[in-house]
Amino acid sequence: MFFKTFSTLILTALAVSASPALQARQSCTATYNVVSGDTCATIESKTGVSDPQLHALNPSINSGCTNLQIGQVLCVSGSGGSTPFPTNYTGIATFYDPNGGIGACGTILQNNDFVVALGTGLWDGGSHCGQTINVSYQGKIIQVVVEDLCLGCQANGFALAEGALDPEYQTDGAITVVWSFA
Ligand SMILES: *[C@@H]1O[C@H](CO)[C@@H](O)[C@H](O)[C@H]1NC(C)=O
Ligand SMILES: *[C@@H]1O[C@H](CO)[C@@H](O)[C@H](O)[C@H]1NC(C)=O
Repeated sequence: MFFKTFSTLILTALAVSASPALQARQSCTATYNVVSGDTCATIESKTGVSDPQLHALNPSINSGCTNLQIGQVLCVSGSGGSTPFPTNYTGIATFYDPNGGIGACGTILQNNDFVVALGTGLWDGGSHCGQTINVSYQGKIIQVVVEDLCLGCQANGFALAEGALDPEYQTDGAITVVWSFA
């Protein structure tokens, strides 16, 4: 069963492009008109916007802030500007049975635990161990904790412990999921 799933995984991984899309949907809630003598620093002190946020809200400003134009309208406040949305990843998820073994994060894992084995692309030396991720698939959202490493999973994919899933999912084997760190 697992090997059948695994070969499906490889084939599907080639077909689906992984798209970590950081969608910072920011709408501007306050603007500022550049006047003679303005620099990023003066605009920041006049409006209270932070330097990183000013640049995030106005990608046209270069890093040295040397291209301001008198009369230019800048955004100085935007929703979500200081708290970026988490990245949503699209990947292929499969499932596995930890069978009471010790996961790559060092804890014993049972089949019915809500845990996930992260693919190598995002494993990052285990830096996400213990972190919760939200997984949405087929209209459902589940929360699982990173406790293991999946060597056979594609970049943004992972393997969920079987118990976290409904029987329907297990029949499907490998499916596309959208997920983010919670
Ligand atoms: C990520 O996906 C969740 C669940 O589908 C959705 O609610 C959220 O708006 C998405 N976030 C972004 C930044 O696209
Ligand atoms: C993850 O799911 C929880 C519970 O549904 C929710 O409160 C949280 O906002 C979600 N986090 C993200 C980043 O979508």
